[in-house]
Amino acid sequence: MKYEKEIVRRRTFAIISHPDAGKTTLTEKLLLFGGAIQTAGAVKSNKIKKHATSDFMEIERQRGISVATSVMTFEYKDCLINLLDTPGHKDFAEDTYRTLTAVDSVILVIDSVNGVEAQTRRLMEVCRMRDTPVIVFINKMDRDGKNRFDLLEEIEKELKISLHPMTWPINSGKDFKGVYDLSEKSLLLFTANTKADDEDAIVIENLQDTILDTKIGEADAKHLRDDVELIEGVHGELSVDDYLGGKIAPVFFGSAVNNFGVREMLNTFIKIAPIPRSRETSLREVEVGEDKFSGFIFKIHANLDPKHRDRIGFMRVCSGKFERNKYYHHVRLDKDIRFSNPYSFLARSKDVIEDAYPGDVVGLFDTGNFKIGDTLTEGENFYFTGIPTFSPEIFKELVNKDPMKTKQLEKGIQQLTDEGVAQLFTQFGGTKKIIGCVGELQFEVIQYRLLQEYGAACEFRALPFYKACWLTSKNQKKLDDFLRYKQTNTAEDKDEHPVYLAQSEWFLNTEINNNSDIQFHFSSEIHK
Ligand code: G4P
Repeated sequence: MKYEKEIVRRRTFAIISHPDAGKTTLTEKLLLFGGAIQTAGAVKSNKIKKHATSDFMEIERQRGISVATSVMTFEYKDCLINLLDTPGHKDFAEDTYRTLTAVDSVILVIDSVNGVEAQTRRLMEVCRMRDTPVIVFINKMDRDGKNRFDLLEEIEKELKISLHPMTWPINSGKDFKGVYDLSEKSLLLFTANTKADDEDAIVIENLQDTILDTKIGEADAKHLRDDVELIEGVHGELSVDDYLGGKIAPVFFGSAVNNFGVREMLNTFIKIAPIPRSRETSLREVEVGEDKFSGFIFKIHANLDPKHRDRIGFMRVCSGKFERNKYYHHVRLDKDIRFSNPYSFLARSKDVIEDAYPGDVVGLFDTGNFKIGDTLTEGENFYFTGIPTFSPEIFKELVNKDPMKTKQLEKGIQQLTDEGVAQLFTQFGGTKKIIGCVGELQFEVIQYRLLQEYGAACEFRALPFYKACWLTSKNQKKLDDFLRYKQTNTAEDKDEHPVYLAQSEWFLNTEINNNSDIQFHFSSEIHK
């Protein structure tokens, strides 16, 4: 394998959670372990507010911050870790889904008090689509949480994944005494605000050892012995292959804010988390160890300064070595471009880099060449697959408020949708533009940015749709007929793929039942 030394030390992952479960806190602790930040609070102060209101300056501020924290690269032991940030606000969930296409594994944080929440479910659905390996961190054990067995059962059932406890908690809330590490056979006693290096593990090879009673008291020692016997009986050893195949998720219990249980997870993570792997393309599977470079754009970020429309494309390297100033083939545009200032996200600062390897994320300045899903190669014509777009949840018609600025509006909405801010659908036979978003906040961002960056004033008119389905059919005539009969409920997406806009689940099911020649898809791949 070419560049083997570089590839095997890389781990590219994301932390995902329902807002408030502790993603930011855990990120910060991991960065502290990696020496990427020196003090607690450094990430926190940058945190994208969860309850962002329609304060536009706040949105702008957050956009700026999220560039800085989009990728955090740090070294831990012998590994180079690329941690990709995902926005906490649910209205930007699409951004998160796309980021998940660029990682090799995820850490899922669950709040022990709240258990599985709405956003957790949806994020896991995306992980399951790609069989992404998942490690679960059950957070906030210092609070009175759910019964741990019930919680595991809930997670398994709701997230449709088997769990494998790696540590086991001794109580929770104010009685939380710590965790027993099942694979290391050691006891970690809970202390609030543990520093990165001073977590003391007490090795207890045999749980019958009375040292356990001395450390946690007889009653809790008995409970722990019973629990461990039960767990070991059911689970046995962790099958790393099943974890890598996305079938089993190792579970750790801890408290991120107290930096408790985090190191155990990180140590396991670097041991078992996948190195960059081969990826499917429209032509063939691209091996990670191939000589030739390839990569794809999974996120585009607009410049904060409205006077400069350049943007930053975030590219994940999939094979070979990416080099500064070398010409690469932009497959969709069929043209060769080079990048003189690609940058990486090592430690705290953005640094111009000379080269990058599979698993790395490189920031590329872009003057409008990129769309999400674009592939760069050394000449071969393929694009990476598995970068889907999902149905939006809120649909509104874009209304131009200033006919003199029609051109600017068209250009603006085109560019914003290339960035993936929202999805654009155009009604067949008309010019009605339908914008689909996941949350209301996105509409505010669009309206604000169209005005600030393109000088185009617009407003939105609510539409009664609840879901967009992409349509395909082997029978072109049937599809054409359907599109004609259902004109008010059909449109084409940005890439001119037909979609059906359903008013309700009932309508959708009726159409699915009545049109067996037509396939209704709930996600579409972004490509071409
Ligand atoms: P998020 O990024 O997933 O949205 O969550 P974040 O880390 O911001 O954590 C949400 C809240 O939960 C924060 O409190 C944080 O301090 C708290 N928290 C995180 N881990 C733990 C834990 O292990 N135990 C307990 N008890 N709380 C935890 P906040 O009040 O919203 O913010 P702050 O004022 O503490 O900064």
